[in-house]
Amino acid sequence: MKNSKIIGTGHYVPEQIVTNQDLEKIMDTTNEWIVERTGIQERRWFDPEKDTVANMATKASKKALKNAGLVAQDVDFIVFATITPDYFFPGSGVLLQRELGLQGIGALDIRNACSGFIYALSVADQFIKTGMYKTILVVGAEIQSSALDKSTEGRSSSVIFADGAGAAVLQATQEQKGILSTHLHADGDYAEELYVKDPGSSRKVRLSKELLDGATFNLTMNGNTVFKHAVVRFAEVIHEALAQNKMQKEDIDLLIPHQANLRISQFVQKQMNLPDEKVYNNIMHFGNTTAASIPIALSEACEKGKVKDNDLICLAAFGSGFTWASALIRW
Ligand code: COA
Repeated sequence: MKNSKIIGTGHYVPEQIVTNQDLEKIMDTTNEWIVERTGIQERRWFDPEKDTVANMATKASKKALKNAGLVAQDVDFIVFATITPDYFFPGSGVLLQRELGLQGIGALDIRNACSGFIYALSVADQFIKTGMYKTILVVGAEIQSSALDKSTEGRSSSVIFADGAGAAVLQATQEQKGILSTHLHADGDYAEELYVKDPGSSRKVRLSKELLDGATFNLTMNGNTVFKHAVVRFAEVIHEALAQNKMQKEDIDLLIPHQANLRISQFVQKQMNLPDEKVYNNIMHFGNTTAASIPIALSEACEKGKVKDNDLICLAAFGSGFTWASALIRW
């Protein structure tokens, strides 16, 4: 059986930098509170005149393809993770496909929030391992800032979430390396702990003035519950990946956790007893970009030379659903 290997990564973030000081001007918050509770110093918010989920994904994908030494026409299939698609339907996968000029190839959309990129990677990995496709573009892209309540009422969520896109090119290889395993989990009991309720389809009228007044289109999060579950599930799913591959936590060269919150990443780092240089965080500059956070971090880590040939890379995520997932990769 073939293996699948990441041969190129790329990312794109909107130009507009929103600092904590900028947020102080629009809501009752402080730089100190945000840094202490989340680690975030600044984040990127999209420009409605310029950025869409699909065109940010296109920019990230073109970089990933260039880094892989490929052209768009080499791609056989697209797996696109986002919970903020440009349209209610169709998903953004087909829009990316169109922007890349790849009309005809399949495009699959994944809606697993912060775990979305690892779910997408897992699907792509299975398609390659079975021989169905040779080269797959795996993307995570989000525009969260337009669903945030930027008043004081929404401050516990709106200081955290942000926009951006990341991509990876996955290709079949005969080498004994690449994606060693992926592990996917979910628990729908907690669906409403972190969600955007509308536009839901199970209503008599999908859109009404009352609905709009009720602000059910904004992101709602029970931060305490999310935090408590995240720290347990992150460690659990990393241990699961290590056990499956008969490896120890000391074998990990670089852990790239979903950039949920710096405190969560630090908690997991402590549980795993990993030194600072073995955990990659960039939430300080990009905030939490949901499905885009892992591919942005992976791409940035590659650019900085922190991912080397034969390194053991562990990706791990937790988020809305609840969902959680990990991937262990021999680079
Ligand atoms: N600025 C200033 N004060 C704020 C604030 C902000 N941005 N957001 C909330 N507060 C206030 C609250 O109103 C509350 O005030 P009160 O004590 O007067 O009622 C106080 O800070 C504490 O609020 P609380 O929600 O208990 O804070 P917390 O320590 O739990 O931190 C989170 C809130 C959201 C930072 C924290 O729960 C968290 O990190 N959760 C995980 C979130 C996450 O990772 N989400 C992504 C998952 S993919």
